[in-house]
Amino acid sequence: MTIKHIFSVAALAGLLTACGAGNNEPADMENAENGENEVNQSADEAANNDDHENEANQENEADTADREDVKVIAHRGASGHAPESTTHAIDKAIEMDADWIELDIQITADGHLVAFHDDEISRTTDGEGEIGDHTLDELKELDQGSWFNEEYPDRADESFEGAEILTLEEVFEMYGEDVNYYIETKSTYLNEGMEEPMVQMIEDFGYEENVIIQSFHQDSLQEIAAMNNEITLVQLLWWEVDEETGEMTEWLDIVPAPKDMTDADFEAIADYADGVGPHLTYYDGTEVIDEAFVQTLRDHDLMVHVYTVNEEDEMERLIDWGVTGLFTDFPDRLQDVLDNR
Ligand code: G3P
Ligand code: CA
Repeated sequence: MTIKHIFSVAALAGLLTACGAGNNEPADMENAENGENEVNQSADEAANNDDHENEANQENEADTADREDVKVIAHRGASGHAPESTTHAIDKAIEMDADWIELDIQITADGHLVAFHDDEISRTTDGEGEIGDHTLDELKELDQGSWFNEEYPDRADESFEGAEILTLEEVFEMYGEDVNYYIETKSTYLNEGMEEPMVQMIEDFGYEENVIIQSFHQDSLQEIAAMNNEITLVQLLWWEVDEETGEMTEWLDIVPAPKDMTDADFEAIADYADGVGPHLTYYDGTEVIDEAFVQTLRDHDLMVHVYTVNEEDEMERLIDWGVTGLFTDFPDRLQDVLDNR
């Protein structure tokens, strides 16, 4: 058993608990930030951005959010409207003026970085097996759009049929420097060594100011921070709630329960990251974070980007708490909430 497989087995146990079968990381947690750039920001404006620390500080200046202080992060693109991680979802997110396009990144069997969320390809394609067991050519043959039409007939569109899995390079080439990319090093226990080619690609495109890298995996972010300290980094966190005791445990043991986090815990994250991406609720409906937690993060100059928030009342409440961004499958809905405040 290779180290990769040992990690896979250990992680799988946690994942099955956190996510239910079929998915990988605390994925699809129904609830899950930042940046300074806007999707349609000009290259000149982008060039004027300060480094990521200044960015974080700017974003945290206000204790309560104004319209422009809350970043709209399109989760897997506008994935409530079109098949996730496809050009259709990205196009819709851009039409909806999302500030950031969120994409999960994994590695194919032949070493290409691709935008794909699940470890397994069966939920969103007509293929079977793990994404990392397939070459890019094999993955390009798959239909990543028809599942959406079957699952959501009211939002179906014939044009979604046959949507391709995209490489990160294709995404960067297609959408260019006027778009901001919020990419995740996903399931690093399966996708070993993705950090170096990812950072290299960002540097080759000159997209250090256009990219945020997020991860549940602290070592992945720390590795990236050591490679390039200009890229903005966000530590994702997922707490599981014991159904009998109510005790909260972060699935990768990065931090204790939110209420038990000390200054040292916040400072340890701030040492390599610029922000934190917590979720609001656990599967059983328990809310794992509150306003005090959000404000404490901000007191430590950390951006607060909560995932994945699709309900307007939750958007309103989190904005009132002072979050600096929200991941959402419905960027249009979040834009409406922000417009109406
Ligand atoms: O990246 C924030 C959020 O996307 C984390 O959840 O499982 O959708 O990647 P997941
Ligand atoms: Ca993600």
